[in-house]
Amino acid sequence: MNIHKRSLQYIPGGVSSLNRQVSPSLAFSKAEGAYLWDSEQNRYLDFHAAFAPHLLGHNESQVNNAVTSVIANRSSLYGSGPNELEIALAESVCGDIKHVEKVTMLNTGSEATALAIKLSRAATGRKHFIVMQGGYNGNSDELACNVFNTIAEIGERVSPGEYPIRPLGAGTVISEQRYVHVINYNDLESVRYVCKRYPVAALITEPVLQNIGIVGPEEGYLSGLRELADELGFVLIFDEVKTGFRHALGGYAELCGVKPDLVTYGKAVANGYPISLLGGKAELMDLLADDDPSKRPLVAGTYNGHPAAVAAAIATLEILKSRGGEVYAHLDTLGRAAEAGLRQAFESRNIVGTVVRLGSAFSFYFMDHAPRDFHDMLTNHDFERDVAVRRALISAGIYFIPIATKQCSISASHTLDDIQLMVEQFGKCLDAVG
Ligand SMILES: Cc1ncc(COP(=O)(O)O)c(C=O)c1O
Repeated sequence: MNIHKRSLQYIPGGVSSLNRQVSPSLAFSKAEGAYLWDSEQNRYLDFHAAFAPHLLGHNESQVNNAVTSVIANRSSLYGSGPNELEIALAESVCGDIKHVEKVTMLNTGSEATALAIKLSRAATGRKHFIVMQGGYNGNSDELACNVFNTIAEIGERVSPGEYPIRPLGAGTVISEQRYVHVINYNDLESVRYVCKRYPVAALITEPVLQNIGIVGPEEGYLSGLRELADELGFVLIFDEVKTGFRHALGGYAELCGVKPDLVTYGKAVANGYPISLLGGKAELMDLLADDDPSKRPLVAGTYNGHPAAVAAAIATLEILKSRGGEVYAHLDTLGRAAEAGLRQAFESRNIVGTVVRLGSAFSFYFMDHAPRDFHDMLTNHDFERDVAVRRALISAGIYFIPIATKQCSISASHTLDDIQLMVEQFGKCLDAVG
């Protein structure tokens, strides 16, 4: 029985995370550096990076050695008391990122964002919070809503105002989402609009939306959010699960100079091993251990701070600290080459297209400008053509996840030759798709 049939027999849909259910459905069996191999030993140059964690490339040896030495040294998950590895990781993160005065460790980005919301509610005594249409902040019941929607589901663009809640899946009780307010990204007036009507505990946003391609902040937007948070008393949470460590040691907050009250990290922090972090101001974070249980949100998890994942994070951060300048410069050089090459591929064919890039992350749209928010992208981008190009690239041995607008990630293991090859194939695929 082939691998697809076997996976469908006992795993619903054949995958453990539904966004892996794509067409073509390839089963990968090996990865190294910038490459993936499928179960038939075909090689692909990878620009998916498993939805972004593999910043240094697959199976980075220093990170892998850190994990295997945890096992060789007979470290284990003790489940009691503090642990040297956790302390080392916390010291490293808090030492390097000024707006992270204290940090706690979880397993997934979704756990970190859900805890950030609970913590904000506990700190402010308010219940409501704001998210962005087109933003993704994890799979927890309240946060899992409104990423990709049709106009029929959410209506035309409103500003100031908010959109109806659309849960990402069945089984979520919509009445529980009555505290969630979905607004446009890049729209400060809608923040005011919601705050005038409801007691808002928190606003959570990716500083750069990276789940509908790459949609960046307009001049003054993130600092405007900071000012509104200070004025109106809500907690500003940057969800840096995707942007953290990929763009700088201090994440996008370091690049834009705006300090959130709380920040979540995941993905690139351990180059592919499962760990996430919630950090921020000590006065907020200390509530997690408040003496008064009625003020203390629950942080609990058998595998929180698992030594293998913590060791992977320490090793990743060591690399980024000791060679960070070199690594980020290399990533930026590759990113620039990819951006210029893709732009040229559109221009030389007279195809209307835009390439948006942030360091090593890039996206392309069949529209004449970079989208400013979800509605802009939804109404102008050609989604079918986008997926068709991705599928053609996969046939040519270049792996772009075949989901329209999904951001592509370059790793430090890629070379300029890899980028050149990708760009050449991108042009050929544009020709083939038309
Ligand atoms: C910005 C952002 N936040 C949170 C999450 C959830 O992270 P995880 O899938 O590790 O639960 C993701 C995952 O893609 C994400 O992109």
